[in-house]
Amino acid sequence: MAIAHAPVMVAAILDGLQVASRADAVYVDGTVGAGGHSGAILAARSDSRLIGMDLDLQALDLAREALAPFGERVRLIHASYTAMPSALAEAFQVSQADGILLDLGVSSMQLDEAVRGFAFRLEGPLDMRFDSTSEGQTAADLTNTLPADALADILYHYGEERHSRRIARAIVAARPLHTTRDLAELIAGLGLSHGKIHPATRTFQALRIAVNDELRTVETALPVALGCLKPGGRLAVISFHSLEDRIVKQYFKQEAADCLCPPHQPVCTCNHRARVKLITRKPITAPLEEIERNPRARSAKLRVVERLESN
Ligand SMILES: C[S@@+](CC[C@H](N)C(=O)[O-])C[C@H]1O[C@@H](n2cnc3c(N)ncnc32)[C@H](O)[C@@H]1O
Repeated sequence: MAIAHAPVMVAAILDGLQVASRADAVYVDGTVGAGGHSGAILAARSDSRLIGMDLDLQALDLAREALAPFGERVRLIHASYTAMPSALAEAFQVSQADGILLDLGVSSMQLDEAVRGFAFRLEGPLDMRFDSTSEGQTAADLTNTLPADALADILYHYGEERHSRRIARAIVAARPLHTTRDLAELIAGLGLSHGKIHPATRTFQALRIAVNDELRTVETALPVALGCLKPGGRLAVISFHSLEDRIVKQYFKQEAADCLCPPHQPVCTCNHRARVKLITRKPITAPLEEIERNPRARSAKLRVVERLESN
């Protein structure tokens, strides 16, 4: 039985989305998971409503149970958070929300379920899809079919794995790989130095990101989310690794700027106008006592922006 996912930085999320002071607010939790953040948002005021989205049907089952006390105030939708506009229309017949949350990445339940194939410490199929009902490629598809160069690029770019070429060549030589343990043991057996982390950590992260096209999905979702925010509404994004955080940071910086022309250009020709105000200039990280309670919070970074009245 999977251990329930402990939501990270709940107080900072409630604060960042200004939940306590918004009357009759509509929220989108684009990554509802087991419903931890959503439950906290809904519990903070009795006049709010929330749409919880997730690609994972098992997560939605857990969220349904956890959020049942909120009755009609919550709607759960099995879809990618990139489909937020249609979710808002379908659930509450509105086009914009007061607050949007994206808590990116993988949940504890997903990591603890061997059959999902996310964990290198558990024996399971090499799957790693967030949406097990999708026709999309699995980690086994990638490891067993991609040329070594393409595999190495994935490991290098998405896992920041400095031994990417060695590992990719070893994977190609050992094909076919069927299980998480096949892959983890193969990498561990190469005897490459990885500091304190398990030698397969970066490869598993990279494959998961590739299988779910996670970085491109975040890039697509950020402008969609801004478009779904009311003026004065807030978007909060929690990321768990530097690749994601970089995308969020750069996009927020760009959308908070009044001009994107090169600094030496005397007159603005881009006509870009700021659409958001940065609420967090630096990312918020979890307090020490939370990290002690929940080690997953160690790498979490929260960034928040507010949609401007104009634009
Ligand atoms: C870190 S967990 C969220 C945990 C949640 N905040 C809670 O309190 O339980 C991330 C969730 O996002 C989901 N997910 C990943 N990519 C998604 C996408 N493109 N659209 C919707 N959900 C996604 C995963 O299935 C997972 O359940």
